[in-house]
Amino acid sequence: MGKISRRAFLRQAGLAAGAGALSRGSWAHAMREHGRTKLATDPRRPQYHLLPAANWMNDPNGPIFYKDRYHMFFQYNPNGAFWGTMHWAHAISSDMIHWQHEPIALAPTPGGYDRDGVFSGSAVLDGNTPNLIYTGVLPPASPSEITLDDGQHQWREVQCLATSTDPDLRSWRKLPEPVIARPPQHLSVTGFRDPGVWREGREWLLTLGSGIPGKGGAILLYESHDLRHWTYRHLLIEGHASGKSAANPVDTGDMWECPDFFPLGNRHVLMISTMGKVFWKTGRYHDRRFTAEKEGVVDFGSYYAAKTMLDERENRILWGWIPETRPEAEYRAAGWAGAMALPRTLSLDRDGGLRISPAPAVEVLRAHHSQVNGGDRNRDKALASIRIRDQAGEIQARFAANRGFLLRLRAEKGETFAEIAYDPHNKDAELRVNGTAASFATNEAVTLRVFLDGSVLEVFANEKVVITARVYTVPSTPLLVDVSDPTTLESLDVWQMRPISQDRLTGGTGALARPGLDQWSSRNCPRALSENERARRRAGDARRSIDGTSSV
Ligand code: FRU
Repeated sequence: MGKISRRAFLRQAGLAAGAGALSRGSWAHAMREHGRTKLATDPRRPQYHLLPAANWMNDPNGPIFYKDRYHMFFQYNPNGAFWGTMHWAHAISSDMIHWQHEPIALAPTPGGYDRDGVFSGSAVLDGNTPNLIYTGVLPPASPSEITLDDGQHQWREVQCLATSTDPDLRSWRKLPEPVIARPPQHLSVTGFRDPGVWREGREWLLTLGSGIPGKGGAILLYESHDLRHWTYRHLLIEGHASGKSAANPVDTGDMWECPDFFPLGNRHVLMISTMGKVFWKTGRYHDRRFTAEKEGVVDFGSYYAAKTMLDERENRILWGWIPETRPEAEYRAAGWAGAMALPRTLSLDRDGGLRISPAPAVEVLRAHHSQVNGGDRNRDKALASIRIRDQAGEIQARFAANRGFLLRLRAEKGETFAEIAYDPHNKDAELRVNGTAASFATNEAVTLRVFLDGSVLEVFANEKVVITARVYTVPSTPLLVDVSDPTTLESLDVWQMRPISQDRLTGGTGALARPGLDQWSSRNCPRALSENERARRRAGDARRSIDGTSSV
């Protein structure tokens, strides 16, 4: 929550006259309600994406399907809407869409190896035991211990492990010592973080995001028999030196963050985050070395720190963090920053390129449906009557092959909210969403999938190009869908989307409460799912959200 003076608050709340009469307790209560109302009525705040009830979030961490439920952990700052004092927040879902916020899973241990932050990592099951493996950061005892230097901070990074015996994964016990305490002796590194872990036969393998000065980004590969004792093997893959210099090696691509490595079809895929983007590489994995054959960008917009998991049907699901693109002062004042992108399904095309599409689970959110067929006589009238309310909608549009298009979301008074454009005849054919462009050339029909949620706009074209835009304009009326030349349109489907909570707090509980948030009242205490609720949800009753409140 941004800082607000008592007087300013009373002025805003129209309470100035009675100010003297407010006791300390009722002042705190009024302040709580003010914070809550501000977030709950903020039209820029997503209503069906996962985000904490307030404050800052970044990377998805350790997503896992365990005992019939999805667990998502993510980087979270309980002290406000700005990056710092990283914790792992926790949320549980039965369908990857409706979430119940849980108490913080991991917090820095005072005096411990993660005293300055619990950074990103993974969750894995060893037999029946859930493990979290993550990067702890702490002050270096000497300059030689520094592995993270971003121009602002200088930290030692170590890899830590925590286990749980709790079926709901609410409580975790940390090992007192790191499981990897320092980089391999002969290597000097540009970073040493974000463990990714998987099993191969009897062994555990672990990747770390890193880079070698003068050589570029790189992924370190370790192996272990017990998740506790790790031996460094070699570089899984290395990049090329950028030849540029910057205070933070991540900005030049000389440090790769958040590696995620997994088999998909007849290839392996590596995702890395660097230079503000997530890059995918597909290729071959032999002798524990990865050779990339194809590469691309996962999302050309506001999207970072991707992390995958297998869903209950063993589909590879991709998660990612949607950062703010507005100035820090604005999101601090708003009291929240960042959101989790919708789950996306990954597959390979015939040439080994990565295909990315919204996971079918998202369809549970669809409410009122409007449909227009390109060939209909009353096409233009049908198109003109469509409205998306509360900035919460899904659009699926199919455009004829080799025809460019311009789809505009605009308010009734005409002001444009977003433009999605494609011109195949331009020599640099590209898809454009407001100010962001991605090269995209096809002679096939184009199927656009668009998800609008407050200030978040996720746009997919033919499962090949994705652009997540942030749009902070608040339209003055419900939105119309304009297609500049409706003869290009083969079909259009528009759904109003249901919020996942009634109050834009997107989880229905105040369980993430910490200094910045302990204004949340006990009314919001988390309630575990009953067996009945779980069964009902599994049976697909999408109208009830998992904390027992009905979606609108
Ligand atoms: C990526 C990242 C990770 C790190 C975490 C800290 O966004 O920088 O490398 O573990 O965020 O919050």
